[in-house]
Amino acid sequence: MSIKCLLTPVMTGALALAMALPAQARDFRLGLITPPSHKWTQAAVAFADEVKEQSGGEHSISIFPAQQLGNEAQMVQQLQTGALDMAFLTIAEISNRVPDFGALYAPYLVDNIDQAAALLRSDAANDLLNQLPAEAGLVGVGYGMAGMRQVMSRSPAKGPDDLVGKKLRITPFEPLRDFYMATGAAPTPLPLPAVYDALANGQIDAIDMDFDSILIFKFYERADNLLISNHMMFPMVGVVSGRVWKDLSKEDRQLLQASMRKHLDGVIDHFQQQESQQEQQLRALDITIEEAGRETFAAAIDDWEKIWSAKSKSLPNLRQAAADIKSN
Ligand code: BEZ
Repeated sequence: MSIKCLLTPVMTGALALAMALPAQARDFRLGLITPPSHKWTQAAVAFADEVKEQSGGEHSISIFPAQQLGNEAQMVQQLQTGALDMAFLTIAEISNRVPDFGALYAPYLVDNIDQAAALLRSDAANDLLNQLPAEAGLVGVGYGMAGMRQVMSRSPAKGPDDLVGKKLRITPFEPLRDFYMATGAAPTPLPLPAVYDALANGQIDAIDMDFDSILIFKFYERADNLLISNHMMFPMVGVVSGRVWKDLSKEDRQLLQASMRKHLDGVIDHFQQQESQQEQQLRALDITIEEAGRETFAAAIDDWEKIWSAKSKSLPNLRQAAADIKSN
């Protein structure tokens, strides 16, 4: 018996009417933590413009950058209740709620930005998104990213030994905290907008950061030692509230999904293209630069693996996908 045979004539009529209804005009809201000058925010604006154009002006998306709607934890709560429609989120907050995502922050999972881009476009990474509706009430549309993570410090640092006991700013999430705890540093969670002042007033000694943010926010003015370590990638995810998604028409879902994916993918391209140029920009500044690779962090990586191989079942799968990328 087909599903249709089970429907009463009234139900069939209601279903037909619902399917025939034109999509309802909506003004969606999209929140993110980055300021207007950041590529993530620019991509959100371009996405909003495209949705407006492709829906013939029917739908619009208002963008709320720079934590205007609260921090990521607060935005996730709003997404879960349907008070917020969409967001571009660091995986940081997602991994606090769905620990399996912590695998994306395995130290030296990838060695450089090109490998990070390839891994975020892999099936292994995209399969993780399937957990979001059930685990977090979110629909994960696709990944973007920022640059590879580095360390900037107020006093010179050649490796983890020079960071022992130092108050080192981290984005507030557990995999990164566990990594720095294992190095002997004192990880200090602070959201991005609070970092400049915390460096300026001596609240922190060092920061975990990417080249792009170091340049945009001029962190080198307050900490003039850069340790190029490339120790982690920094994925971002574009999400839609599950509550909002379930009430969207098929056409609206397709429009939002295709357009958001395109602009998130453009963010990956952007960071991939600018990474080495930004490294050169930083090398041209009057700051001290050191380099440290995986071997310098070997002991911390071992400790991290012990904790996170128990917390994230997807770690072996992601490591394999990364190994395949490295061998190609
Ligand atoms: C950070 O917390 O370091 C960060 C967040 C978003 C974009 C770039 C950096």
